[in-house]
Amino acid sequence: PLKLIIDTDPGIDDSMAILAAFHSPEVEIIGLTTIFGNVPVAQGALTSLKGVAKERIADFVHGSDGFGNTDPEFSQEEPLPISAAQFIVECAAKWPGEVVVLALGPLTNVALAIHLNPDLPQLLHKVVVLGGAFFVNGNVNPAAEANIFGDPDAANVVFAKAPNCWVVGLDVTHQCQLSRRQLDGLQGVGRHGSFLSAISQFYLSYHKHVGLSSYGMDAVFVHDAAALSAVLRPELFQWHAGAVLVDTEGAFRGHTLVDEGKKEWVGMNEWQTRPKIKVALSVDAKALTDLVLQR
Ligand code: BDR
Ligand code: CA
Repeated sequence: PLKLIIDTDPGIDDSMAILAAFHSPEVEIIGLTTIFGNVPVAQGALTSLKGVAKERIADFVHGSDGFGNTDPEFSQEEPLPISAAQFIVECAAKWPGEVVVLALGPLTNVALAIHLNPDLPQLLHKVVVLGGAFFVNGNVNPAAEANIFGDPDAANVVFAKAPNCWVVGLDVTHQCQLSRRQLDGLQGVGRHGSFLSAISQFYLSYHKHVGLSSYGMDAVFVHDAAALSAVLRPELFQWHAGAVLVDTEGAFRGHTLVDEGKKEWVGMNEWQTRPKIKVALSVDAKALTDLVLQR
C-alpha cells in the first residue's frame, strides 16, 4: 500500500476522509499532521516552565485515552517533538517514492516542508490537495476556496515546486454530495459510521440553512473524502495538466487560475515558469460517493 500522511484541519469532512482512509487497504496511514483551518486548535505546553515533562500522568484518574478507556483504538503515542513539515521531510527521505501527502487544509505545512528540503517533491510519490475553485465560484467568496484562501502564498509554493501535485477543487467536490438519507444510513454501521452520522447533522444544517451562507440543500458536499478518493481511485476523475497560479492579494486573494493549455502564449507569463500539475475537472460522482460511503 501507499504510505499516506494526512495533513488536516479536522472538521466534519476531514473526519469523513480520515475514517474512510483508515478503512482503505490501498493506503497505510503513517501519520496525521495538523494545520490551522476549520476550527482553532492551539497546542499547549508539553513541559513545565522548568522544562520538566510527565512528572505525574493522571491516567489512573481519566483512563489512558482521557475518556475513561472508552476508546479501544486509542493510541498512547505522544505527538512527535518535531514539526509537521519536518515529519513530512523525514518520511519522504525514509521511504523515497512511496509517500503520498494528502493535504486537506491550508498548504502551509507542505510549503514549509518544501522550504526545508527543496528536493521533497521528487522524493514524494505525489501530493494530493483538496483546494481551489477553477471554473466555478469559490466558497469563501466568488473568487476563493477556503483552504487556498487560508494560505495562498503556501499554495503558490506547492503549485510552483511540486510537479507531482494533484489538485481536487470545488469544480469536482460540488458534484459530489451525500444526502441526509445516506448520512442517516451510517447510523449503527459500526462506531465510525455512527460517529460520522452524528457529526454530520451540524454539517447538514449548515448546507441547508445557516443565514446567508446556506446552499439550501438537504445534502452535504464531499470535499476532503473526494481528495482521498483521488488517492485511492484517480481513474474516477478527469484530469487536466496545466500550470496553476494563485492570487495572493486583494479581492481575488486565493483565486486559483489554471492555464487551459489551449494556446501557445506569446511572450513570458508566470504560468510558463510553473510545472503542469493535475487539476480535476470532473468526476464520476456516483462512483466516488459510493466508494466513500462503503469505506
Ligand atoms: C475545504 O475547507 C474546509 O472547510 C473543508 O474541511 C475542506 O477541506 C472545503 O473548501
Ligand atoms: Ca479540511
